[in-house]
Amino acid sequence: MANQPFLTDIKTLRERARRHIENGAITEGYTADRDTVVKVLNEALATEIVCVLRYKRHYFMASGIHAEGVAAEFLQHATDEQGHADQIAQRIVQLGGAPNFNPEGLLTRSHAEYVEGETLNDMIKEDLVAERIAIDSYRDIIQYLGNDDPTTRRMMEEILAVEEEHADDLMNLLSETGK
Ligand SMILES: [Fe+2]
Ligand SMILES: [Fe+2]
Repeated sequence: MANQPFLTDIKTLRERARRHIENGAITEGYTADRDTVVKVLNEALATEIVCVLRYKRHYFMASGIHAEGVAAEFLQHATDEQGHADQIAQRIVQLGGAPNFNPEGLLTRSHAEYVEGETLNDMIKEDLVAERIAIDSYRDIIQYLGNDDPTTRRMMEEILAVEEEHADDLMNLLSETGK
């Protein structure tokens, strides 16, 4: 049995925690580049806000025979994306950053686009494209974070899993509404 059950002994951990108390949840063991993580998270935040806006637009504009079920799905996705935006904003604050909610430049910061779409089918396709963009960029963020910031990585992994479900939902809607 090792005398030292932790990678860093408790005395050192306690001493470290007392130094730089103003950094809150960010301890000396945090090895990620905090500015970059905040910047990347602000891009993810912009992506989520754009997705909320697009899904809301689609929810209110959905019409046609298949509209009711599809509209309900759009609304559910809008609610999920709002939840993601909140989680990401919260984490940015924990990291000592400031969440960027400025409408100016929102589309430039966002990875996903805001496309209105004419028909119900267009809307579903555009949402699917946006989800696929989010999936790819979030996977990149997760890889970038690696083991340097496991909390942010875990959050992004959970969000990624939901975006994959969204993409799957949209695929099913496409097959129901034709093409
Ligand atoms: Fe999302
Ligand atoms: Fe999504």
